Amino acid sequence: MSASGLFQETFGRAPAIVMRAHGRVNLIGEHVDYNGGLVLPTPIARRLEIAAGFAGEDRVAIASNRFAGVDSRAFVEGRSGRWSDYAFAAALKAIELGAPRRGLAIAIASDLPEGAGLSSSAATVVGVIRAALALSAREVDDVSIARAAQAVENDFIGVPCGIMDQMAVALARPGEALALDTSTLACERVAIPAGWRFAVIHSGETRALNDGRYALRRLECERAARAVGAEALCRADARQEAAIEALAPPLRGRARHALSEHRRTVAAVAALRAGNAAGFGRLMDESHASMRDDFEVTTPLIDAEVEASRAAGALGARMTGGGFGGCVVSLIPPEREEGWAAALAARFPGVRFIA
Ligand code: GLA
Repeated sequence: MSASGLFQETFGRAPAIVMRAHGRVNLIGEHVDYNGGLVLPTPIARRLEIAAGFAGEDRVAIASNRFAGVDSRAFVEGRSGRWSDYAFAAALKAIELGAPRRGLAIAIASDLPEGAGLSSSAATVVGVIRAALALSAREVDDVSIARAAQAVENDFIGVPCGIMDQMAVALARPGEALALDTSTLACERVAIPAGWRFAVIHSGETRALNDGRYALRRLECERAARAVGAEALCRADARQEAAIEALAPPLRGRARHALSEHRRTVAAVAALRAGNAAGFGRLMDESHASMRDDFEVTTPLIDAEVEASRAAGALGARMTGGGFGGCVVSLIPPEREEGWAAALAARFPGVRFIA
């Protein structure tokens, strides 16, 4: 059902507005957005639709096609641990950004898998903030919306995520990759050459970013940066790089990944601009190996799927997103796609084709 239909069915009237927020796939540059590195996400067709309207009291009433019932939350409530936390906190954040302090009714319809590394939570938060602002025609620039959405996840939800997902949802456009320097938030849009096909499969394994493992990686990176005297691991100089190699595990691997992944992403942007698909694919492969061996965020199933993707014809393949489950992105020559998909489906019955 559409968000508009769900709104009508739940609240007995038509919504005042409907917004869309798309998911994203990060092509390369993983776990560098909190280390001052370069990331390269691009939007996918899967998305959320958010239908909204003002409602009487100081409450936010939220319905979703993914969960039964309506969750009605008073403005004064804190985090509940329920599914509605993201939309609720986003509605409150919109008030901080200038939306009127009025009650809201929200209906969300999503075809974006959750816990898959495709930014479903960033899409929810950015989408609801935008919807709430649009209701009163408040204009806030995209970067401020992305920062506010990151603050919702950091402060209200308690996930110490970087800003890649929120920036990608707020700014990326189809057919382009967003080369985002997370140390300055400067972005460049790079067109994806015709004939390049980035396919996304869901591994069948889901993860939660708030299960502590993401936070632990972030903490390890902070410790490593402190130990070598670097402000940001991705920007380590030659002396700091030598100090990284002298660290004990696991910090050595964590820091090595951050630095090498940033450099791979710089090279990948150059390959994208040059139309060098083979070179881009090789960098994806190296990125996966680094996430597996140095950063240790992949799973045996995902490693096997990445390998099978290459064996079935991909020019490169890697896990995408925070890790410990989720999705694999592969660069596939379009003429190989049918055989590639058939080979993967035959070997991994739990795989879902997402984009
Ligand atoms: C999650 C976080 C992002 C980023 C990625 C890993 O998606 O929300 O900020 O750190 O993991 O690249």
